[in-house]
Formats: sequence, C-alpha cells, structure tokens
Amino acid sequence: MPISTLPTAASLAPQTDRPAFAAMVDSLPDPVLVVTARDAEDSSDRRVVFANPAARELLRIQSEGATLVSAIRHPRVLEAVDESLFGDLAGEASYETGGAQDRYWRVLTRPLAQTADGARQALLVIRDETDSRRNERMRADFLANASHELRTPLASLTGFIETLRGHAKDDPVARERFLGVMAAQAGRMARLIDDLLSLSRIELNEHIAPEGRVDVALAVLDVIDALSPLAAERGVKLSPQLPPKGQATIVGDRDQILQVAQNLIDNASKYSPPGGAVQIEVAVGLTAEAAIALSRPGAARLSILTPDLVGGERFTVLRCTDQGPGIAREHLPRLSERFYRVEGQKSGERLGTGLGLAIVKHIINRHRGGLAIESAEGQGTTFIAYFPTP
Ligand SMILES: Nc1ncnc2c1ncn2[C@@H]1O[C@H](COP(=O)(O)OP(=O)(O)OP(=O)(O)O)[C@@H](O)[C@H]1O
Ligand SMILES: [Mg+2]
Repeated sequence: MPISTLPTAASLAPQTDRPAFAAMVDSLPDPVLVVTARDAEDSSDRRVVFANPAARELLRIQSEGATLVSAIRHPRVLEAVDESLFGDLAGEASYETGGAQDRYWRVLTRPLAQTADGARQALLVIRDETDSRRNERMRADFLANASHELRTPLASLTGFIETLRGHAKDDPVARERFLGVMAAQAGRMARLIDDLLSLSRIELNEHIAPEGRVDVALAVLDVIDALSPLAAERGVKLSPQLPPKGQATIVGDRDQILQVAQNLIDNASKYSPPGGAVQIEVAVGLTAEAAIALSRPGAARLSILTPDLVGGERFTVLRCTDQGPGIAREHLPRLSERFYRVEGQKSGERLGTGLGLAIVKHIINRHRGGLAIESAEGQGTTFIAYFPTP
C-alpha cells in the first residue's frame, strides 16, 4: 500500500477498538508521553496525562497527573514542550544522564489538539541516542587518530627534505643518513595505510561468514618462516608446538588467519627481550573453557572476545606466549582499540601502528571465535585466539 493511503493513527483509532490501539502505544519501545497545560506562565502546571510503560520506567512516573518537572528537569526539554503546547511548534531537545553508563536522550515534542475543555496538549517521544552518539564519537576519534598518525611521519619527511635542500645539500654522509630515515618514515606511512585499508575491508565483510578451509598449523608455519629472520636478528627464538598436518583445519579465510598469526607472533617477538623465546602452540578439539584455561597462576587475564556458545562446541586454539614485559591489568581492556599502545613500552626499532590487535579482533569475530589475553608484569604475555572446529 502506498504510504499516502495508509490510515493515520487518528483516523484508525475510532474505528478499531481502543484497547488494541492503547496496547499498541503501550508496547512501543520508545518512551511516549502526553502532557497538558493551561497556564503558559506557570511551569508547574504541565502535567503528564499519559505515559506508556517505557516512559514510566525511564522517568520513574508513578501516577498519571504527575507534574512534568518531577519527571524531567532539563530546562531545554521544558522549553521545547512549551513551544509545542503554546506555540503549536514541533520542538526538539536533548539531554544526558549519568549513572553506571552515560546515556544520551533526544526528546521530540509535537503539538496535539486541545482537549474539549480547552487544555493544551503536546506529545513527547524520547529516543535513546546513546549508541549513535558513541559511534559518532568513535568515528571522530578514529579520524583524528588516523590523521595524527599519518601527520607525524609526514612532518618528519618534510623536515628532512628541507634539510637536504639546505645545509645537508653538499654533505654526502648526512644525505645518506637522512635518506635512510626518510625511507623508514615512508615505510611507516605505507604500513599504516595498508593496515587502515585492511581494517576497513575486514569490517565490510565481517558479517559474511568465511567459506574456505585453513589448516591453522600450516598458517603458523608460514608466518614463522616469514618472521624468523627478523626474530633471529633480535636474538628471539620462535618455538612452535603444532599438531600433524590436517588436524587443525577450520572453516576460515586463509589470508585472514595468516594475518592473525602474523600479528600475534610479530607482537610476541617484538616485545620479547633479546635471547627470549616465543612459544607458539596450536591445540585442537578443546572446549571454550579449556581454550582459555589459565596457564600462569596469578596473572591478569581478560576475554576480549567471547564466541556465542550453544553447547558442545570444540575449538582449535592458537596460543602465543612471550617472555616480554607483560601488560598491566588496566591496559588489557583497551588493547584491541585502534591505535592504542601501552605507553613507555619498547618494541625494538620498528614502531608499530597500534592497529594490529584491532585487526586481529575483527577477523576473529568474523570467524565466530574468541580472543583472550593473560599477562603477568615482568613475566610475559599469552594471547589466545580460538576458532570453532567444524
Ligand atoms: N606480546 C605483547 N607484549 C607486551 N605488549 C604487547 C604485546 N602485544 C601487544 N602489546 C601492546 O599492545 C599494543 C597494541 O598492539 P598492536 O599489535 O595493536 O599494535 P603495535 O604492535 O603497536 O603495532 P603493529 O602491530 O600494528 O605493528 C602495543 O603497542 C603494545 O603496547
Ligand atoms: Mg602489533
């Protein structure tokens, strides 16, 4: 039916039975109220004559006829209500509430026809805009962070170009050194852009389940082959403990599983002390509980991502344990945030982008798996990624 021919609530109400109509308004998830008033000058005369259960719960309205100011005190909202009551205008206002979690509310007000005895009426609809507000903030933060991260190497490149044009022009030794630094900065920018693109690609298809088959153990071997030279340079030993070929096969996207292994093993070796060892273990057929079982007594631990369980699932688990500095408990919840890095941590020569674990988390989420961290300061860290076994 085209929209224009749909009956409006007002035309519908008299024909349908009223209880059904009232039940409809009562079951609306958004708080809805009707307010009446007679005296524009006396703000205490605004009264709530109707409130659906959502409104009664949100505003703790006990009885009909309660004053509006006892339910909502925010002056901006009261002004918007008055605009609808006495100015016949649609109004809008928002306010925030604190408590365990900050919430952000938008109130829409609309004029209604006067009652038979001449009282003015207005409709209020309250919307919870906390989530969209949070997303908006995250987007803004993300843009600010990404721009900042790109601007830092760019500023350094610009600085070196100036120097090369100026006093280093005729100094071949300085020129070579500066070009080396410039190449490193350009490399950093390229990595950052690669990671950003990778993250946005993963997010785009996060809701589409992967279809391929991947042997996690073989993926780990490939990553170890690729990272060994770098680890060896730093005197870090990568020691895998893997099941035989074919046993650790999961439903997954091979490139993405490689990315998970690469990020976790790269972090472990990057944050290892020289001479340290990184244990990389793949285990199969574990329950979710066994997958994240504590291996270091007294360590801080956190599940960053937990899969939905219906019972009886088995998981293929990748555990990556280092002997690095560990991560203090308070940092654990923020590790998979984009650009989050623990301050004052040494990661060798190669400065990271702080996007690695965000990528890991999104990939695991797409695979309906889990991610947990266990860390003891001064002793080391274990990252546990686990994937459902078909
Ligand atoms: N194995 C680890 N030991 C100690 N700290 C770690 C470890 N892995 C990650 N971290 C901390 O978590 C932060 C975020 O890790 P993430 O992999 O997302 O970024 P990164 O390593 O800085 O950069 P990238 O991996 O993109 O090169 C790191 O900066 C580091 O502070
Ligand atoms: Mg990393």
